[in-house]
Amino acid sequence: MSNQIRPLIAGNWKMNGDAGSFLEVEAIKDKMAANVVNADVAICPPATLLHRVSAALYESDVATGAQNCHAEAKGAYTGDISVDMVKEAGGSYVIVGHSERRDGYSESNEDVAAKASAALAGGIVPIVCCGESLDVRESGKAIDVVVEQIIASCPDFAASQEIVVAYEPIWAIGTGKTASADDVAEMHDAIRAALVERFGEQGAAIRILYGGSVKPANAAELLAVENVNGALVGGASLKADDFWGIISAA
Ligand code: 13P
Repeated sequence: MSNQIRPLIAGNWKMNGDAGSFLEVEAIKDKMAANVVNADVAICPPATLLHRVSAALYESDVATGAQNCHAEAKGAYTGDISVDMVKEAGGSYVIVGHSERRDGYSESNEDVAAKASAALAGGIVPIVCCGESLDVRESGKAIDVVVEQIIASCPDFAASQEIVVAYEPIWAIGTGKTASADDVAEMHDAIRAALVERFGEQGAAIRILYGGSVKPANAAELLAVENVNGALVGGASLKADDFWGIISAA
């Protein structure tokens, strides 16, 4: 982890969570209040729970965010939510370009950049995701593909405000397989170099999260890697004990 960058540990609940999840939210809030935490922490629940989770975490050290947004401010976009809606529901982050949306909804780099732009214009922090498939990893082109993807997914003015990048190898998501610390180091170094080339000094300050089967048992090793500035956590963010295990590893 680069010492000068405060890590971000963000939980992506995906399409999970219900009224019972508030016990987990309260438990995380209590642990955060009772301990000194050297990381920013955020929870991104489904859109229907965002308002309630934000209210439960009001004035705590845990921020909230959405898992997606539309690039437009309003209009005839059935089923979508705008950046202002995320903000009104209390969110200060939005995940954009998750591989589950790129693959499931054919989101292109341009779509992702437009969403990230909308988030920045609206004053919330986009967490822009990238990551390669197993085929790409096995073909030896992972670094080229991911660097091209992330650069094309970040709007031009990205670094003048806060933006977060998340590297999530698709083959490591929800599979229990984690990229090795060496592979993560190589990829995060390449992403850092590309961000610095594109954004200059400001690119050196952008947080680059790792995601893909992060758990309490592997968090310390992954978070110790140079240029890993936090984690985007799926399954393990649903249980307060597991999520706390990752937060405390930071
Ligand atoms: P898992 O931690 O469940 O592998 O999910 C990672 C992820 O996709 C977070 O956005």
